[in-house]
Amino acid sequence: MNKAMIKIRIPATSANIGSGFDSLGLAVNMYNYVYMEESDSLEISSKDGTIIPTNESNLIYKTAKYLFEECGRPFKSLKIEQINNVPIARGLGSSSTCIIGGLVGANELMGCPLSKDELINLAAAMEGHPDNSTPAMIGGLVTAVLDNKKVYYVKQEIDSALKFAAIVPDFELKTSDARRVLPQQIAHKDGVFNLSRAALMSVSLYSGNYNNLRVAADDRLHQPYRLSLINKAEQVFDICYKNSAYAVYISGAGSTLMAIVDDKQIDFEQKTRDALDEMGLGEWKLHMLSVDNAGTVVLKD
Ligand code: HSE
Repeated sequence: MNKAMIKIRIPATSANIGSGFDSLGLAVNMYNYVYMEESDSLEISSKDGTIIPTNESNLIYKTAKYLFEECGRPFKSLKIEQINNVPIARGLGSSSTCIIGGLVGANELMGCPLSKDELINLAAAMEGHPDNSTPAMIGGLVTAVLDNKKVYYVKQEIDSALKFAAIVPDFELKTSDARRVLPQQIAHKDGVFNLSRAALMSVSLYSGNYNNLRVAADDRLHQPYRLSLINKAEQVFDICYKNSAYAVYISGAGSTLMAIVDDKQIDFEQKTRDALDEMGLGEWKLHMLSVDNAGTVVLKD
């Protein structure tokens, strides 16, 4: 049995970027860590006190076991240690970090039988959409389509001068609940509204045309329906725009609200923190992040 301990760092992600529902996402420099080794019995622990499932329902364990079985390799059990910095059920891709951690860990333990693209395809199939899992794997800004179990994607590296201010509420919002409020059908003009803005978002972020971002983040597919699930979200949008954000959007399915800010706006963080406190949102966190262009990394000792 291979007793090597595999150490993996996986970034948080911010999906949709407003208009790119289920198709745009980017990785940010907030990380979960997964340490994994083969073992005769199941042993799962959190090294930072985060409450996680420590039995066979653990998503990292389930994903890793699945990959061993898919590859036809003998599987006994795993010892897994987790360090969780990405808050759970807040629209920052915590479940993608577990899926990617499980897939990459198992692949490494087996001697890397699968390519990165094969892992990307499996991760997207497990998530059901590729907009968190793909940037979590490869970093950067990713435009991705999941078609017939294969992810077609382009990664673009993003300038670290652009800050992503993650405003994280003190409550969870499950993706399944945030998808339940979406309409089954939309008007043709709303489809056009979104596809034009999603295209504009992708190229504007890449080319540095940041003054397009406010219009590009606007959306009619999900945010209007989800805002009511996030108490005071609209006031927080107003605060961020007043403090000169280029754009504000619901990160993934929420509950986090993400503001895109120029790093020259050096007082954005303090002014926004003060405003949140005045609104009675003192328990909400504010993290000033940058795009992670590296993606998932297997750490060497
Ligand atoms: N795009 C998904 C949603 C979340 O908005 O429901 C991230 O995969």
